Amino acid sequence: MTQKKRISFGSKLGVVAAAAGSAVGLGNIWRFPYELGLSGGGAFLLIYILCVVLLGMPVMLSEFVIGRLGQANPAGAFRKLGSHRKWQLVGIMGVCSSFLIMGFYVVVSGWTMEYIFQAVSNGFVNKDTAALSQAFTDFSSNTARPIGWMTLFLLLTAGIIIAGVEKGIEKSTKIMMPLLLLIIVALGLRAVTLPGGTDGLKFLFYPDFSKINSTVILNAMGQAFFSLSLGMGCMITYGSYIKKENNLGKTVVQVTSLDTVIAVLAAIAIFPAVFAFGINPGQGPTLVFITLPNIFDQMTGGYIWSILFFVLLCIAALTSTISLLEVIVACLTEEFKLSRIKAVIFSSVGIFILGICASLSMGVWSDVTVFGLTFFELFDSVTAKILMPLGGILMTVFAGWALKKEAVEAELSSAGNYKVTYFKIYLFLIKYITPVAIFIVLLNELGLGKPLF
Ligand code: PFF
Repeated sequence: MTQKKRISFGSKLGVVAAAAGSAVGLGNIWRFPYELGLSGGGAFLLIYILCVVLLGMPVMLSEFVIGRLGQANPAGAFRKLGSHRKWQLVGIMGVCSSFLIMGFYVVVSGWTMEYIFQAVSNGFVNKDTAALSQAFTDFSSNTARPIGWMTLFLLLTAGIIIAGVEKGIEKSTKIMMPLLLLIIVALGLRAVTLPGGTDGLKFLFYPDFSKINSTVILNAMGQAFFSLSLGMGCMITYGSYIKKENNLGKTVVQVTSLDTVIAVLAAIAIFPAVFAFGINPGQGPTLVFITLPNIFDQMTGGYIWSILFFVLLCIAALTSTISLLEVIVACLTEEFKLSRIKAVIFSSVGIFILGICASLSMGVWSDVTVFGLTFFELFDSVTAKILMPLGGILMTVFAGWALKKEAVEAELSSAGNYKVTYFKIYLFLIKYITPVAIFIVLLNELGLGKPLF
């Protein structure tokens, strides 16, 4: 049987732009700094980097291998490669995770558009923290306005996905990622030159080991999975679009490094200013929406910096939402033979409904809870803390135990074109270390294991 050639990214740069575009997102610029602020700074950063290297890199490599070997969406790849049909469930779980992540992600993405609008129209001027906090609460708990922005953002994402893998995803990320890098470097440079900013850098880079406990480890692991877009088939889908001659190991190193550097740069852009202006670093998800506008208002050139910052946040979000939507669309077109347009419409409507639930849970539905969590918190926690790590375990177990060692090595070496000096270490990690480490942290989270600390 001759196989139809699969659509693919056109260039190596396109692969890195698209995969790093998926990885770099609200997770780096919105979530990472506040998680770090909540979990004590440098200690969190250290654990985070360990999680990226020991857990993130092997999982990403495994996902690329599964995707490129299977030449299909996550559900299709597991079905084709697995000895048992049940493996397909892992792929399906990934597609469900994509839906749930999109459910709250598009809401926050919509907020970034409102904040660009506010920045441009001088909305932060002469407001103190209390006034900005009130403005944020008023806006996010409003019924119509956030849903309006969310809809616009979803339409933008859908438009890019309809344009296709090469003309939509690759082309747009190749423009947006360099722009993003430029803005974040400029913001970082600005922040470190602020008088009084060194305390912020100390907070960020000085590890206070007494702050490390099992919650910090779980948060760092969840953050690593979320930030690198792992455990839910996104990198399987993108892996299936990588040409056979591209070096997967190198791509993983490039994407994980870029993602980590950008998260650290975001923290460098934020914490010196937080400390310079005497603001509490541990205030959680509202950090960038309340603290930063306050800082920009007090900073020279704050008008421009604030616009730049929220444009950055919006671009980062967009390159991630397109990857999340592509996971669902690839599955619907390949498994259910829907046309690309129909698949985009169908999935966007589903996401729109989830998004409404998440958005309203910040306001009129704030007392509607499931397991004590609002819809917004539920979508976030279930995916980052349970589904993504669980997916990571199953994917590494699959690559390590269910796939033939020779097939994995051939994929990594592009049929002998590259030396895979790291192969033994990689295999050892995905067979014994990565899944077990994720499992222990997960058990701890679910309260089933003995607390480690
Ligand atoms: N990695 C993205 C971020 O850091 O914001 C979030 C994300 C995108 C998670 C795509 C999962 C995914 F498939």
